[in-house]
Parts: sequence; structure tokens; C-alpha cells
Amino acid sequence: MKLSEEEQAMLDGIKGPSVSRAMELLVALGDCYEADRMVRIGSAHLVGPNPVTAGRGGTAFYGDLAKEGAQVTVPTTTNPISLDVWSWAEMGFGKELYSAQISLSEHLSRMGVLLCNTCTPYLAGHVPRFGEHVAWGESSAVLYLNSVLGARTNREGAPSALAAAITGRSPAYGLHLDENRYGQILVENRSELRNDTDYSTLGYYIGKFAQDRIPIITGITPSITADQLKSLGTPLAVTGSVALYHVVGVTPEAPSIEIASGSRKIAASDTISVGSRELKETEASLSAIHPDKGNLVILGCPHASITQLKDYARTLAGKRIRKEVEVWILSTRTTRDYAAETGILEALTGAGAKVVWNVCPNAMPHDFFAKQGYTGVVTDSPKMAYYVTATKGVSCYYGSLQSFVGAIIR
Ligand code: F3S
Repeated sequence: MKLSEEEQAMLDGIKGPSVSRAMELLVALGDCYEADRMVRIGSAHLVGPNPVTAGRGGTAFYGDLAKEGAQVTVPTTTNPISLDVWSWAEMGFGKELYSAQISLSEHLSRMGVLLCNTCTPYLAGHVPRFGEHVAWGESSAVLYLNSVLGARTNREGAPSALAAAITGRSPAYGLHLDENRYGQILVENRSELRNDTDYSTLGYYIGKFAQDRIPIITGITPSITADQLKSLGTPLAVTGSVALYHVVGVTPEAPSIEIASGSRKIAASDTISVGSRELKETEASLSAIHPDKGNLVILGCPHASITQLKDYARTLAGKRIRKEVEVWILSTRTTRDYAAETGILEALTGAGAKVVWNVCPNAMPHDFFAKQGYTGVVTDSPKMAYYVTATKGVSCYYGSLQSFVGAIIR
């Protein structure tokens, strides 16, 4: 890899040991992927900023870096953490986890990281521009960033994103390069998509076929909303390992199939058509229980926008959730504050739902659900259904809030 003078100086330790170590990691990563240079990045987003994912080793690593005086040099935000630091005791979390989270967050804060603690940083003011190189982790955010915003990142792990944040560089490979951003398979949507959940189900179905290839999707209305694009993209990294998708006539790199594919012909074997039958079967495959058997409802995966909170409030208006059922709506602090000022929060809490900010259930200790007696999860997110089933030992129902609201109210 050819480094600039400044990059070589960083590697040689002129800016201190932490910068040198970070550059060493990026050079090794670049060598692995045969990158011939670095790109300057505009921002970074860190995954796993919590004690459950980072573990003692990761937490100590962040602590050592902070002690050495490491500083991020580009705006850097964080993914959700293990608990809501304001209502952790009320939600049943222990003091030990709380203290571990606070200490890890403090290490990151000392390095200049902005603790926005959300998987939708683009809803909290962190919005890279079209074509900008960045180093982001979090598969759902990476999909939104590459596909909807047209900025450029590979799916970064915690160490590579932090190293990029410290040096302001990332190796030029993968989705940073024009030639790797063209669509490789074609998906013709023939189904009627009525709400965010239908878009999520479509994404879940496409991910299975796509695996690690970039889909070009047709048959989507140009009036698709940003929330629906978020819903469509997120499951592509659950059933597949997709980091970029194109929607013809909608996303910025896909004004036509020809442009989205780089004028390459897509073989018939790389083309599928999706109708209502496939979506119905996919939705059913994600449910192992009837919604009235669930005692924890999780909405807002990825973290809900203000319009999604408003939709939830509309569906729950005038209703009262059964006392045996806990309802969490995951969102960001900024969105929650906005909801508080506009009466949306009151409508949700009035029905008995909780809007919890900063957290992801998948960053909670694996035995937390069992200890709290949560045995059945009801959710409108296929990503949440997939991961809590796999890691928390619970059974799930998956569907839109409208489909199960009758089962959770008095
Ligand atoms: Fe976000 Fe957690 Fe879902 S990180 S996308 S709420 S699994």
C-alpha cells in the first residue's frame, strides 16, 4: 500500500503510540484486501460500545487508549448501549452493569467520541453527504448510508472504525471504490407493500437470495419514505451480508437498471421476482407464537424516527396495554425529546408503552430476558425477531403493530 507522507509519519509514531497502532491496524487491513492507498474519511460510527459486546478486554483496551491520550480526529458517534442510563434500575438492570457501561462510555467520551448511542445516527444529526468516504459499523446504518445517502463505507468492526476515527483514514477497498458499487442481482417486486413491516419482510426475503451480492430492486414506488427504505434495507444484513442495495428510480446511484448495474448484463439465474405469496410465507416463518403469548413487545429496531413514533401513537390512541405486557419502543434521545415536546410521548406512555432511548436488547446480557421473565417477544422488526430468538432463548411473533395491537390491549 502506498501511504502519503503524513500517513507514513503517523505509522512511524510521530503523532504518538495510539495513532501509530491505529495506522498499523489499517495498513494490515488494507493489505488483506489488497488496497493500494488510504482514503480520507469524513466521520466514523462505532459498534459495540457496551460492556456486553466489548467484554472486559475491550473495555480495558478503550481505557488504555483514553489514558494514552488517543483522540478521534473526525466526528465519531456510537451504536446503542446495554441499558438506559436514566431508567436502568426501573428496567431491572444491576448496578455492576450500569457502572461498567458508564466507565466504558467515559473512556470513549475522553477520546472525543460523541455518545449518541443509536443505530440510526443519521436521525440524530450525523448525516454524511453523497460520495463522502466514512468508516461506519452497524449493518443497518451502513445499508442506509451506502444505499440511501450514497456515502461510502465498508462494514467496519469496532477496532477498524476506531482506528479510522483516530487517523482520519480508511483503506481504499470494497465499497469505497466505484467498480464495487454496481448491482449484481435483479429483484422484481410484484407485491403490494402497505406499511414499514411489509418493506422489512421484502428485505428479509431478498437477503436470503442476495447473500453477499448487491441487489437492484425494481417495482418500488418512487414515493417510498425514508422510514420504509430503512425497513427495506435493514434485514438484508440479517439473512444476507449485503451492505449496499439499489432501488431503481429511488436511491441515488440507481436512476436506471443500466446505471445501477454499470451496464453489465444480469443473468436470468441472478434474477428473482417477489410476490405477495413469498412475503406471506416469509412473515409466517418468523413467528413461532401467537401475539397474545408474548409478554414483551419491542418496536423501533432500528431506532424509531419521529414519524414512526407518531404512527405508533396513532395506533395505540385511546387503548390501554395489558399490565402483564411490557412495551418498549426503542429510539434516540433527540427523537424522544422531540416526541415529548409534541405530545407524541404522552400519547404512547398514556397507553402504557415505554420509549427507551440509547439501548438495544441485543446489547443486553444474554440472561436478562430470562431473569425478567420475558418468555415471548412480539415485534415488528425481522432483525429483532431473528436475534432475540437466537440469543435470548425466547419465542417470537413478527408482524406490524396493527396486526397484533388487539392481542396486547385490555
Ligand atoms: Fe438497532 Fe439493535 Fe435493531 S442495534 S437495528 S435496535 S438489533
